[in-house]
This record gives sequence, structure tokens and C-alpha cells, in this order.
Amino acid sequence: MKKDTIILGIETSCDETAVSIVRNGTEIITNVVASQIESHKRFGGVVPEIASRHHVEQMTVVLEEAFENTDITWDEVDAIAVTEGPGLVGALLVGVNSAKALSFAKQKPLVGVHHIAGHIYANRLEKDFEFPLLALIVSGGHTELVLMREHGSYELIGETRDDAAGEAYDKVARMLNLPYPGGPHIDQLAAIGKETIDFPRAWLEEGSYDFSFSGLKSAVINKIHNAKQRGEILKNEDIAASFQASVVEVLTTKTLEAAKEYNVSQIIVAGGVAANKGLRKELEAVFSETDIPLLIPNIKLCTDNAAMIAAAGTIAFEQGRRSGLDLNANASLMLK
Ligand code: KG4
Ligand code: ZN
Repeated sequence: MKKDTIILGIETSCDETAVSIVRNGTEIITNVVASQIESHKRFGGVVPEIASRHHVEQMTVVLEEAFENTDITWDEVDAIAVTEGPGLVGALLVGVNSAKALSFAKQKPLVGVHHIAGHIYANRLEKDFEFPLLALIVSGGHTELVLMREHGSYELIGETRDDAAGEAYDKVARMLNLPYPGGPHIDQLAAIGKETIDFPRAWLEEGSYDFSFSGLKSAVINKIHNAKQRGEILKNEDIAASFQASVVEVLTTKTLEAAKEYNVSQIIVAGGVAANKGLRKELEAVFSETDIPLLIPNIKLCTDNAAMIAAAGTIAFEQGRRSGLDLNANASLMLK
């Protein structure tokens, strides 16, 4: 019988300090996430310097808690997987240096993982992959369509040319004086609002799977300013519903077109915005009319965590990929 592969994952690319242990890339043994959202809220966004400091304070606490939750011992851990990029460089460095120290002290192999590969592999903690698959990644820093023909291989077929979907959500939320991160608040408002404003949809050139959300964001800002000047009252929930309708229509339509063109066997959705109820509902409606199965992970696995890093790290480890103790944080690491 094949021995289990036990991977310890570490994630510190943004504002979550996270440690997890995963068995065979599919089963979570322990998954601890310490969020810093409360500390960044009053600034309306993540302050990089504060994020790094919190990671330093939290890392050993989170690591200890991860082992307290389980019977697994260091002896059983096969390797340490860590997010090497992309993300905030100071934040990434805390995770990378912790992983290197542990790798050296415990004599365990080290595997650097791309944050987006992690978001994709969060899905494998719920259901195994069927190739070729198309992944829609929508987070605070990324909006991408990635084609995977096999494990560990990523072909970028579309990406945002300006703002990420989550970034647009957070900026519009700020205009509406909603707390950070704004995505979930817009989502809640959108559910009770009506699509009364016809915001633009950025389709870009025929056949392009790229995205653009900055024009939409500006259209929302202009609409709010113009209404104010004219003394016209716009309901926040209607702005939210109209904005969300534009984002969801573009994301869903492009994902469906790409899925058909590449004749994929599975669609997976990943990243913080995958928690969006409007997007989940529309994707489910559209793909239920096709024979392509759609996989969207539990909301807890959509936002940043280390189980997804351990899951992606398991495949990299099994494929023989190793990082040396010279591994460095790379804020703009490419997915390949
Ligand atoms: O993946 P994630 O936790 O961190 C990054 O890697 O960026 O994503 C965070 C982003 C934030 O922009 C947040 O507003 C957005 O995901 N988000 C949502 C929802 N929940 C989180 N956006 C829309 N609707 C939601 N329900
Ligand atoms: Zn993320």
C-alpha cells in the first residue's frame, strides 16, 4: 500500500497567517487561519507594514495551534510547502523564512508554491480534478482563467488588464462607505437591491478572455457623483445590484465561452470572490445547462488559507519539485 503523503502548508501572502496539514493533497488534518482584518479595517485596506508585523507575531502561535489540533507529529510530515508569491513581499518573507527555518531544523524538504496554484487546489480538498479543466480565479489581487491539462500545469488564457474583481468590489464598497473588505457587504446589498442602473460590460476584443474592471469602477464612481450633484437619490442596494450584475455577467460569459472552446471536463472556481452568492448562483445556472461539472469550494476554502497551499504543494512534492534554502519571496511570481 502506498504511504500517505503528509504536507505542512504555510501561507502569509496578504493578511492571513495560516498553517495547515493535509493528507494526500485531498484531506485536511488541521487548518488554522489567523485573520488580521480587524487591524486593517480602520485604514480601509491592507497596510503592508502592519501585515508583516502581525505575521511575525502570529506565526509561532498558529503553528503550535495547528499541531495541538492533531495527533500528527513532525516525524510524519513529508515536506513543508510555503507560498513564495505573488503577494506583499514583506508578508511573504515571514512565511518563506519560517518555512526555511523549519525545513532546516526538522530536516524536511521545502516546496515553494504559487498562491494561485493554491487557490486552484483548494477545490481538490472537496473533489478530485478531471482534466482538462478550466479554473476561474477571482480574488482581491487576481482575475484569471487558467487551463490545466494535467496536475501542476497551468496555461494562462485570460487575465485582468487592470483591477482584479475583488479590488473593484473593495473600491466600490469604499465609495459606498462600507467596511473593508467590501466584497461581502456589496454581495449582501446586491441581494436586496434591483438592477436599476445599466453599468458597462467590458467585453474587450472578440475572442479575448481577458478582463477589465477599472472602467466599471469609474462608471460607478461617476454615477454616484452625478447623482449627488443633481440631488438624485440612488439606493446603495441598487448600485450594488447593478455593479454586481455587470461583474457576474462578464465573468460567467467568458468562463462559459472558454469552457466550450477548450472542451473542458470540469470548471473550478477559486479565490475570495468565489464566495460571492450572486456569482455562485449565476455560474450554477449557466453550467447546469451544459454537461460540464462545476466545482466551487466551501466559502472557508475560497479565501486565503494554508490547506490550499499544502494541497498544491502535495502535487509539486509528488512531481519531485523542491526548493532550496535560498528560496526567496517573489511579489510578482508568474504561474507556470
Ligand atoms: O482570495 P482572497 O481571500 O485574497 C486574495 O488573495 O486577494 O480574496 C479577498 C477578496 C477581497 O477583495 C474581498 O472583498 C473579496 O475577496 N470577497 C468577496 C466576497 N467575499 C470576499 N467579493 C465579493 N463577494 C463576496 N462574498
Ligand atoms: Zn488569495
